[in-house]
Amino acid sequence: MTKIIGIVNQKGGVGKTTTAVNLAAYIGKKRKKVLVIDLDPQGNATSGLGVDKGDIEQTSYDMLVNDVDAADIIVESSAANVDIIPTNINLAGAEIELVSAMSREQILKNAIASVVEDYDYVIIDCPPSLGILTINALTAAEYLIVPIQGEYYALEGLTQLIDTINIVKKKLNPDISLLGVVLTMFNLRTSLSRQVKEDVDDYFGKKVFKTIVPRNVRLAEAPSYGMSIYDYDKNSKGAKAYEALANEVMRKLK
Ligand SMILES: Nc1ncnc2c1ncn2[C@@H]1O[C@H](COP(=O)(O)OP(=O)(O)OP(=O)(O)O)[C@@H](O)[C@H]1O
Ligand SMILES: [Mg+2]
Repeated sequence: MTKIIGIVNQKGGVGKTTTAVNLAAYIGKKRKKVLVIDLDPQGNATSGLGVDKGDIEQTSYDMLVNDVDAADIIVESSAANVDIIPTNINLAGAEIELVSAMSREQILKNAIASVVEDYDYVIIDCPPSLGILTINALTAAEYLIVPIQGEYYALEGLTQLIDTINIVKKKLNPDISLLGVVLTMFNLRTSLSRQVKEDVDDYFGKKVFKTIVPRNVRLAEAPSYGMSIYDYDKNSKGAKAYEALANEVMRKLK
C-alpha cells in the first residue's frame, strides 16, 4: 500500500520543503520508490530536487486545472528513486481558478489516483497557507508531518492548523492522521529552542519525532545546487538528522 504523506504548516519558512526533499531522498536511498508532489507555487521542492523551473513544460497546475494526466507530468529528480510532479509560479492561479471547480477539494486525490500505486511513498510539499491547495493535500494524504521551527515561538497558529485538519477529517477525508511533528532549525543551546521543545512536547506528546533537525548551513546550501543533503554533503549534521527522520517515518509506517 502506498503511503501518502503531506508536509504541512501554514507558517512560512519552517522547513516544509527541506523536510519533503530530504525525507524523499533518504527514503529513495532505501530503494523505495518515491513521488514528490510540489504543491507550492514557489516551486522550491522542484528546484531543490534539480528540476529547472524554466524548463518544465507541464506542472502540477496543468494536472489540477487542465486535467492533464499525472503520468505525463512526472519527471525524474536528481535524487535516486525519487520522481516529482514539478511546479512553477503558474500554480498560483490555481488558488483562484479552483474556487468554483466541482469537488474542488478532491481534485488532487483524483488526479494522482492512477499513479500512486507505482510508488511506495508519495510526499506532498504544501504552500504556506491553508488555502485550496493545502486542503487538496489534506484530502489526498493519509498521514501528515508538521515541521515546527525551533527558533520561533511555535505554538501560535498551530491551533488553526489542527482545527483545519479536524474539519477535513470530518468532512472530506476520515483517513487523515497526524504522523508526527518534527522540530527543525533547532539549536538546543538557546533557551528559546529549549522552551519551544518543552511546549511542543507538552502539546503533542508522543507525536513528536525523536529526531530533531539542527540548524545546519549545509541544509540551506544544498537547494541552490539542486541536490538533496545526501547528494550534497552526506556527512553533515543535517544529513544525519534527515536520515534518522526517514528511518523513524519508515518504522512508524511499517
Ligand atoms: N535545519 C536547517 N538549517 C538551516 N537552514 C535551514 C534548515 N531547514 C531549512 N533551512 C532553510 O530555511 C529556509 C526555509 O526552509 P524551507 O524552504 O524548507 O521552509 P518552508 O516551510 O518550505 O518555507 P515556505 O513556507 O516558504 O515554503 C530555506 O532557505 C532553507 O534552506
Ligand atoms: Mg516550502
